[in-house]
Amino acid sequence: MQLRYFGHSAFMLNVEGASLLFDPFITDNPHTDGVVTADELNPDVILLTHAHSDHWGDTPEIAARTKAQVVANFEIVTYLQEKHGHQNVQPMNTGGSWSFDWGRVKQTYARHSSSFADGTYGGNPNGYILHAEDKCIYNLGDTALFQEMEYIGNQHTIDVALMPIGDCFTMGIEDSIEAARRLTPKLVIPMHWGTFPYIEVDTDAWAAKMKDAGFNARVMQPGESIEI
Ligand code: NI
Ligand code: MN
Repeated sequence: MQLRYFGHSAFMLNVEGASLLFDPFITDNPHTDGVVTADELNPDVILLTHAHSDHWGDTPEIAARTKAQVVANFEIVTYLQEKHGHQNVQPMNTGGSWSFDWGRVKQTYARHSSSFADGTYGGNPNGYILHAEDKCIYNLGDTALFQEMEYIGNQHTIDVALMPIGDCFTMGIEDSIEAARRLTPKLVIPMHWGTFPYIEVDTDAWAAKMKDAGFNARVMQPGESIEI
């Protein structure tokens, strides 16, 4: 499968049978300048971790144009249906799993908040554990370090963990290393870094510390793709 990064927490994951777009914050994302525009993305599925505008992003426009299925918590899906008239949705909530013809996802606890820019309640923030093509990808979403990561690490052999490292609103460098200790992923890819002054971190220092702790760390630049 192929993973492409657009900066912030926006990723496209191409698995057999579907292209999956996570948290499509594109138009107002300074890291996508010259990399991609929202109207160039043609996902089959959009998966949202929470309702904050730096994750919800261009969801209504991309969903309307592509008719993509939008996977999100119940409150976000309801908002999309009622305010934007998009009906191709899959509601979920924390701890629940759902099987699609391309794979299976579980919404996981994330220690964060979730509200729309207009103040509407956005339900629980979540991460996603995704199984497709015999691989396990864990997108942590926006989260602080939490104890249950140890359980998640014991339950799953995680091939790739997409992990926020920008601090201020989520885990920073030190807590992301502790998260890796709990999750023991084969590869860690950082997200939610450098997009705004609040979340500027030294990604080289992060990668060096991850490697010192014994983990395989890979900083993806906006626009970059890797094979998993
Ligand atoms: Ni957030
Ligand atoms: Mn965020």
